Amino acid sequence: MDFAEQLKSAVDIAQVIGEYVRLRKASSARYTGLCPFHTEKTPSFSVNVGKQFYHCFGCKASGDVIRFVMEMEGLTFLEALKQLAERYGIPMPQKPMASDPESKLRDALSAMHDLALQLFQKALQSSDGAQARAYLQKRGIAPQTTEEFQLGYVDRTGQFLARRLQQDGFSPEQMEKSGLVLQREGGGFFDRFRNRLMFPIHNESGKVVGFAGRALADGDEPKYLNSPETPIYRKRNLLYNLHRAKQPIRKSGHSILVEGYMDVIGLWAAGVQEVVASCGTALSGQQVKLLTRHAEQVVVNFDPDAAGSNAAEISIDVLLQENARVRILELDGDLDPDEYVKKHGVDTYRQRLTNAASYFHWLADRARKRFPVRTAEGRVEALKYLLPVVQRIPDKLERAAVANDVASMLGVEPGLVLEYFRKAALDKRESRAPAPVAETVRPVERMLVNSLLDQPDIRQAVLERLCAMRGFAALETRRILEAMAGLEQAKPGFQFSDLEARLEEKDRTLLASIAIADEMNEHAEPEQVYEKVMACLKSLENTEVDTARRELESGIKEAERAGNMQEALRLYETLNQLIRGRTTVRTG
Ligand code: GTP
Ligand code: MN
Repeated sequence: MDFAEQLKSAVDIAQVIGEYVRLRKASSARYTGLCPFHTEKTPSFSVNVGKQFYHCFGCKASGDVIRFVMEMEGLTFLEALKQLAERYGIPMPQKPMASDPESKLRDALSAMHDLALQLFQKALQSSDGAQARAYLQKRGIAPQTTEEFQLGYVDRTGQFLARRLQQDGFSPEQMEKSGLVLQREGGGFFDRFRNRLMFPIHNESGKVVGFAGRALADGDEPKYLNSPETPIYRKRNLLYNLHRAKQPIRKSGHSILVEGYMDVIGLWAAGVQEVVASCGTALSGQQVKLLTRHAEQVVVNFDPDAAGSNAAEISIDVLLQENARVRILELDGDLDPDEYVKKHGVDTYRQRLTNAASYFHWLADRARKRFPVRTAEGRVEALKYLLPVVQRIPDKLERAAVANDVASMLGVEPGLVLEYFRKAALDKRESRAPAPVAETVRPVERMLVNSLLDQPDIRQAVLERLCAMRGFAALETRRILEAMAGLEQAKPGFQFSDLEARLEEKDRTLLASIAIADEMNEHAEPEQVYEKVMACLKSLENTEVDTARRELESGIKEAERAGNMQEALRLYETLNQLIRGRTTVRTG
């Protein structure tokens, strides 16, 4: 049996995959979970323990435990073997395995980082590290936490690490690719990090792959200096503290995403351990995947300044795209998470966490502050602002639920909000502005339609009178009103969605644009609405009378010209009746 086979029979595939994916036991030999290789809401990924392989019915990914580790960690076959062997304490064969140049380089980079970590940690405890230790104390970081996060110090000489790496025989190419040192113009290397407090950054399996160095003196720029991208450090594919936080995240059912390294450390030390940060980059979809593999709920807890809120807003998009359930925790008193937990204690923080608003609640709040939602234009603006986020929710039902909430927060019809979003989705291809306000529809008609939507009690009477009017056929909202009349008979007290369902695309859009531009006060008394409606009807009837009158007059003229006096007289009589206020306007 070769080593790979030996390894496969020695490790438990469900345990290995279970470190990356939440698995549920489906039968004695089968587990299921959400596929880590594509975005999904219902589990189509399964692991067969008996047959020692995984398969996704959604994206068709499949393979054995080695393949899985290769895919997840971006490793070669041999690297995956090695990682598994180390992780599960299975002795590797004596003779060194052949290895390709790429994995040789990664091995060297990893060794350089391990060495750097050791040296930095030692330096922090040496006499050179006094200032850095004082800084940590000032920031309220206990020695135990310093130890746990493997914090370190690098001196100002510029040769602290460079010299040692050279002595240890790393090649210039390896040194250059490590990101830890920089090449001098005339040859030779010097340290990238000088006189900084060092935070090691680990990948998900707990290997050090990069560093962040914080300036110790105020005014030292930049405040944080980070490792560049290297073959072992992919910023967009990694989260600070995930290797420690993943168990707490699974246990609590959520993760907390903060902005800063210090926030992670502060919260962790206070006992809030389900916390991670991105390493100074905008949140990527890949990073969200890393999180949602362990818990689908993510609480975004960024700094309470404008930059933090804007970053939170951007990250919501990314999170939703990956099906995360998102809540936003906004702390008061201008305190970042680290400062807040220090000032108010962990219980208060936990309480705030429990009460953190759902993201759309938070966004709608932002929209309400930003746009004058008391006016129709303001509501349209607010909807436009919320639109992209809602559209990004991949799940239809979820999208409907969110539209519902947005509607109630802005005080508009839920069906209308959905319709608005749906329409905007259709328009997106042509990149036009969504759902234009129905300016072509006369204000009286708009008013009528909206009143009828708002006040079920007046529908029957008003609709009967409307439909009997001669000019009814000329109304632009005719089909909407007809549908309302039909519904009122079939289902008195019908809802907006019932009405929508009866309409064709064109009229649905018209209805939406009329309803969104509702100028009426939603809290108007029924009597007020009734009065307005009566005024509308009158106005429509007047227009109708005017039209009829003009028609009659021209009919009379024509009859006279043609010498048909009998017809002229008959029309005259009708005109007289009309002017005297009779409602019959039949001319034919
Ligand atoms: P303290 O200010 O010491 O409390 O640290 P912090 O972690 O809270 O940092 P801050 O809130 O200022 O910034 C949040 C994160 O943005 C940091 O943890 C870094 O990842 C990143 N960041 C901040 N300043 C810089 C910088 O000057 N350069 C780079 N590359 N990243 C930075
Ligand atoms: Mn901060």
